[in-house]
Amino acid sequence: MLKLPGLIDVHTHLRTPGGEHKEDFASGTAAALAGGITLILAMPNTNPPLATLSVLEATRQQAQRSIYCDVGLFAGASPALVDQLPQLTNHAVALKIYLNETFGPLRVEDLPTLLACCRHWPTTKVIALHAEGPNVAVGIGLAAAFQRPIHFCHISRKDEIELIAAAKRQGLPVTCEVTPHHLFLTQADVPRLGPLADMRPRLAEQADQAALWEHLDSTIDCIATDHAPHTLAEKAAATPPPGVPGLETSLPLLLTAVKEKRLSLGRLIMLMRTNPKRIFNLPDQPDTYIEVDPEASYTLDNADLQTKCGWTPFAGMTVKGRVMRVVLRGQPVYDAGRPGQENKILAPAGTGRLLP
Ligand code: NCD
Ligand code: ZN
Repeated sequence: MLKLPGLIDVHTHLRTPGGEHKEDFASGTAAALAGGITLILAMPNTNPPLATLSVLEATRQQAQRSIYCDVGLFAGASPALVDQLPQLTNHAVALKIYLNETFGPLRVEDLPTLLACCRHWPTTKVIALHAEGPNVAVGIGLAAAFQRPIHFCHISRKDEIELIAAAKRQGLPVTCEVTPHHLFLTQADVPRLGPLADMRPRLAEQADQAALWEHLDSTIDCIATDHAPHTLAEKAAATPPPGVPGLETSLPLLLTAVKEKRLSLGRLIMLMRTNPKRIFNLPDQPDTYIEVDPEASYTLDNADLQTKCGWTPFAGMTVKGRVMRVVLRGQPVYDAGRPGQENKILAPAGTGRLLP
């Protein structure tokens, strides 16, 4: 058995409020534990979004009652609500700005709102951007002009990662994450998966995927799941919402890559624990660890999932490495292998801590 630190996912969608039929704090944090993740940062593109004090406070109360692992919330930027930003800082771990089209109501496309965010959000807390293509240059410009940390979510293209590498060479305070789906899937998987392969950023070409793997040891700071659950019925509709779940499949996929010597175990821990903790200034979780069976070989199966959406684009893929146990602050909270026991979650609801 391999003992590893509890992992941190800095990009999870938990859907409370307004999308609880897709996921809620209980099902999402149970899925996190099953994936070896003990701290997640939840995104603000809920309905209504986490962009006002009243919604943030109500959501925090919901969360504290329900969570099985530790959770921090992102506040969301919106042009109409930007004057509320100073009130949100104490209730959120970081600020998210959506520069590109994606699921949910949040979008920022005007310079006054971007400037207000950079001026009013404390420099001790990260601003995370959904920025695709030329918008990566916009984010680098903000980092340079305001000398403040900017984190790029789910970078997926060769040009984008090369631009971020150049910005880092200039010493700019930028960081970035990539997702397992961009590391393990490409446009070539779209005919097979149909709407189950639709997410933002869209799956890329093989050259883009190769560039991500090349930069995994250098430019890339974090691997984040972008766990974005939608129901199978929603995915089968005429205009399916973009997004795929990922909390439970990320570590098995990456442990398989470790077995195949495409990634070292040390680097995996840097990407999913050490760097996320440092970049987002997250607290210690003493006596918190996961136990993994690195030799367990199995096929990923929708039926085994804790996520409420009940599917994964990786179903049918054979992986090596299974999360067996999770201990949070000395308390066993997840056990995959209790004979005759259906429920693998050992913790009572509310065991997780809400940050900050
Ligand atoms: C996300 C969602 O469903 O909330 N969808 C996605 O395709 N990634 C939104 C996002 O992160 O862009
Ligand atoms: Zn996302």
